Amino acid sequence: MSPAALKGFSTASENAHTNGATKARTDGFGTRAIHVGSEPDPETGAVIPSISLSTTYKQNGGFEYSRSGNPNRNALETTLASLESGGAYGLAFASGSSTTATVLQSLGPNAHIVSVNDVYGGTFRYMTRVAAENQGIETTFVDLENADDETIAAAFRPNTKLVWIESPTNPTLRLIDIPHIVSLAREASSSPLVLVDNTFLSPFYSSPLLQGADIVMHSLTKYVNGHSDVVMGALILPSHHAALTEKLRFLQNAIGAVPSAYDCWLAQRGAKTLHLRMKAHGTNALAVARALERSPYVEDVIYPGLASHPRNDLAYRSLSPHARKFVDDYAERNADGGFPYGGMISFRIRGGAEEADRFLTATRLFTLAESLGGVESLAELPAQMTHGSIPPAERAHLGIGDNLIRLSVGVEETEDLIADVEQALRVGVEGL
Ligand SMILES: Cc1ncc(COP(=O)(O)O)c(C=O)c1O
Repeated sequence: MSPAALKGFSTASENAHTNGATKARTDGFGTRAIHVGSEPDPETGAVIPSISLSTTYKQNGGFEYSRSGNPNRNALETTLASLESGGAYGLAFASGSSTTATVLQSLGPNAHIVSVNDVYGGTFRYMTRVAAENQGIETTFVDLENADDETIAAAFRPNTKLVWIESPTNPTLRLIDIPHIVSLAREASSSPLVLVDNTFLSPFYSSPLLQGADIVMHSLTKYVNGHSDVVMGALILPSHHAALTEKLRFLQNAIGAVPSAYDCWLAQRGAKTLHLRMKAHGTNALAVARALERSPYVEDVIYPGLASHPRNDLAYRSLSPHARKFVDDYAERNADGGFPYGGMISFRIRGGAEEADRFLTATRLFTLAESLGGVESLAELPAQMTHGSIPPAERAHLGIGDNLIRLSVGVEETEDLIADVEQALRVGVEGL
């Protein structure tokens, strides 16, 4: 038994080793999604792994107690570490939120965080209501998209231990120049870690570890699982962060922020089609964004893949190597400008809350619901739903008005989605 196993936790490097993650790293993204972490069962030959529901394991068999490690969790972690380019270690958690909680716990008391200002609401809540009140952790929220270097550098303190980035931000899809923020963090005297919440783009469109980030975090609940039937989170770290990985895994085991074997099995099944789904999400979202741009009922459309997005060039530069190949092939076949860039769109309907409400109740295929990243299309009103807890003045400052609608574009047939949005816009604005 390894020293790590004796201490009650297994290391991701052991997982990677036992599941052959490293040997398949030269395969393409889709091949890795299907094969890495998913080998036929040596005893039965089963191509799909069985679900290991046992809470405890006979000693010396590689596992001990399911909170500390489980075959399905190891398999999923191996897949995730392989999919997130630049990753070596994967840790799967009970939710995206418990992932955030564990990372912030690892900073110890009285640390300081620099965070993008329109971070996911639950992350904001954890930073300001839990970490601040219980750990003495202070967070400075900075407009990392527009602030100049001096302002960002001035936010760093001697105890700044973490920089928290989300790109694109939610719901206004502002883009952060990750390599630039990493370079500013590297100049800070406290050597903070840089974490990127890559939930919105998924490992298919963006590879923050290749852009210099130390940690990538995901709410697997969204695109990675992709079928709106699992709540889970994950961290992926590069090979030079073995010690940090062990620290996080130790904390995770001690806190008990672990996912069930069944959820891991489902998320791994979902991850096998991530590349197919993300391409379809992207091409559908681009088509819907174009239809919105053409509509007389729309004030403005925010989709970073559109040429009209103010940071469209940064969106292209930020693409992962595999997404860039897909996008370049797409552009060769479709010389109409713009490119697929994930499945999230926000737009402002002409009018206000009334028009937005009518739109949201008139859609046939877009279901009015929070969350995102599933195969089915969803629509929501951030000002009243996901971002309702943000004070109105701050919402206004972030551009989250009563007429801002967020779409999670699914993988249904493109024409059906466009027709649905067009009819709902007509009903929304004209009241017909
Ligand atoms: C960007 C982002 N990060 C983190 C989370 C939290 O994840 P979970 O809901 O799995 O706890 C969410 C959930 O919506 C999210 O959108």
